[in-house]
Amino acid sequence: MNRTIWDKARLNNGIEMPFLGLGVYLAAAGNETRQAIQWSLEAGYRHIDTAKIYGNERDVGLAIQHSDLPREEIFVTTKLWNSDHGYDNTLRAFEDSLGRLGLSYVDLYLIHWPVEGLRAQSWKALLTLLEEGTCQAVGVSNYTIHHLKELLADSPVVPAVNQVEFSPFLYQQELLEFCRTHSIQLEAYSPLTRCQKFHHPTITSLADKYGQTPAQIMIRWALQHDVVVIPKSADRQRIRENAAVFDFDITPDDMARLNACDENFRVSWDPTNTP
Ligand SMILES: NC(=O)c1ccc[n+]([C@@H]2O[C@H](COP(=O)([O-])OP(=O)(O)OC[C@H]3O[C@@H](n4cnc5c(N)ncnc54)[C@H](OP(=O)(O)O)[C@@H]3O)[C@@H](O)[C@H]2O)c1
Repeated sequence: MNRTIWDKARLNNGIEMPFLGLGVYLAAAGNETRQAIQWSLEAGYRHIDTAKIYGNERDVGLAIQHSDLPREEIFVTTKLWNSDHGYDNTLRAFEDSLGRLGLSYVDLYLIHWPVEGLRAQSWKALLTLLEEGTCQAVGVSNYTIHHLKELLADSPVVPAVNQVEFSPFLYQQELLEFCRTHSIQLEAYSPLTRCQKFHHPTITSLADKYGQTPAQIMIRWALQHDVVVIPKSADRQRIRENAAVFDFDITPDDMARLNACDENFRVSWDPTNTP
């Protein structure tokens, strides 16, 4: 499991999603995003995670078109922004995203945030898109167990993916187990804690022990939990570094040490109290 950069998670509808992807939040629109994607494809990534709110969907699309790779070899995720919720708005927002990407389909469309009062209607629109075939898979992001239970009680389709913040410092074990039980693939965002825990003693000691960087230890930890992971970098060297995580294994004891780093530490928004 997770022995090569080509390894994929099989989603609950049979679609395959590469375990490693490139996140492009805060990659500037224009050359920075296009260059980052080109470098990532050269390094073997085949999965890009964007969103309407990142403002770089157009560049994601251009970079894919300018690569020599067939469209179907690259897994593309984008997301429904909070101000676009509701059935009709969602369908429109998706069309707009598709237009900016210049693609005829996306591999995965996610509800970016569980917007209170509107998320159920938006989910219905995602099911329409799934049926139409303009999304290969649909899922959610920042859903807690409470939000997932609500969705599952009212939907004939189980979300393929839940993308949440996940790192050794936010080891959401209960959510991970819930998702596993319901065949929902967990996907880790901010897996590097945006560099904030690179100097934590457990991370530095394991980095020394395995001869890897702190970023590589944190990415490998997520992969060994069978979680899809999308570190962001716009730097060629760091894009390569983050992909060089398939030639070592963290032992079970050291996985336990990393799991024990959990301190409910977040660098992004917290959905815990969203009703
Ligand atoms: N669904 C959601 O609500 C949500 C929320 C947040 C993020 N996301 C997704 O998850 C992706 C990743 O999360 P993130 O961007 O928040 O944080 P992250 O991946 O944890 O960290 C990114 C930061 O780490 C730096 N970095 C990357 N690799 C490095 C390395 N090997 N050594 C040192 N520094 C390194 C990057 O700088 P450089 O670019 O200069 O390398 C950037 O400042 C996002 O891009 C986005 O696609 C989704």
